[in-house]
Amino acid sequence: MTATQTINDVNLAAKRVLVRVDFNVPLNGGKVSDDSRIIAAIPTIQHLVSQGAKVILASHLGRPKGEKNPAYTLAPVAAYLAEKLGKPVRFVEDCIGPVVESAVGEMKDGDVILLENVRFYAGEEKNDPAFAKQLASVADAYVNDAFGTAHRAHASTAGVADYLSPKVAGFVIEKELAYLGEKTAHPDRPFTVILGGAKVSDKISVIDALLDKADTILIGGAMAYTFALAEGRTVGNSLSEPDKVETAKAALEKAKAKGVKFLLPLDNLAVDSIDFGAKTVGNTRVFENNIEDGWEGVDIGPKTVELFAEECRKSKTLLWNGPMGIFEIEACNKGTFAIAKVIAESAGTSIIGGGDSVKAINKSGYGDKVTFMSTGGGASLEFLEGKALPGVLALDTK
Ligand code: 3PG
Repeated sequence: MTATQTINDVNLAAKRVLVRVDFNVPLNGGKVSDDSRIIAAIPTIQHLVSQGAKVILASHLGRPKGEKNPAYTLAPVAAYLAEKLGKPVRFVEDCIGPVVESAVGEMKDGDVILLENVRFYAGEEKNDPAFAKQLASVADAYVNDAFGTAHRAHASTAGVADYLSPKVAGFVIEKELAYLGEKTAHPDRPFTVILGGAKVSDKISVIDALLDKADTILIGGAMAYTFALAEGRTVGNSLSEPDKVETAKAALEKAKAKGVKFLLPLDNLAVDSIDFGAKTVGNTRVFENNIEDGWEGVDIGPKTVELFAEECRKSKTLLWNGPMGIFEIEACNKGTFAIAKVIAESAGTSIIGGGDSVKAINKSGYGDKVTFMSTGGGASLEFLEGKALPGVLALDTK
């Protein structure tokens, strides 16, 4: 892949720079409840501020479907960012038009403003050239640092680049490409991938791509029950996709042909009832091989934890995507948290591939011990599948 230019390759002093960030963060009662994406964007913002650029931040929040909806305003994010940045961040109540033009006109070098949610306009998700042109009209240059949204060909993530130059990546995107891309394409070996999550159908393209790169793949989560069916085992009432059994068989065949060690759980923790609302379970039982009718697998069992931990300890590169069980419920979180601990204690490079695995490792308390945590959900998955990301393709190459 041709290398993408970054903010280190250009000088943006005194330029008006439109910076697309991914501030699509969870808000609880108007308060930021997970700030990882905001914190991740700070080095890029600080770099541009210290260079004397005028920093115009743009982002989406949620899915307001092209309509102005106060429930999705970025105003609380501006206040939060100002606090973390230690400097004022002016919030502008629109993302295009006269209010933006006058706010940008008043900016001094090193100032930071945050525009209102770009998804308040239908042109954003349609990648409408007229909307992209309007967004671009207040800036001289473009920086994309919204890795989490880089898989979307939207106006602020891709279209806008047609009207601005230079157009380069920020440090978030640079780091994501380095870890999810370079480090997995040329890993220190052994390279072990731990994959979990609910569905084979969500992860099969990732499995397929990683079978070309990894030495070992460990499968947990509900996805493992579909693989268990493929091996002729019973899974009781566990979540599984019988229509994906052939897909699972093909992955097992490919692993064999490629000499990739492909390990499924040796045992599973199962429950006879589960209440997601109350986050409680009924009776629990560990099954080796077959899970009996009336029981639902909810986590990997102790023997599997040992087996997977052993593989992780031998590895020089670890990539984790997807929890091993229903970690949101305490009775079912042991396997996921044990794997989080082993990954965090690894002496090699540990990469957490985004989404639920990031939530899980943070919840386990080991989040700050890993080498790299992706800020992407869908974007990380698509990138690991080997797909080109429109938000990256739109940028200048070296
Ligand atoms: C995410 O949270 O995955 C990104 O911000 C993209 O959001 P979207 O799925 O609504 O496009």
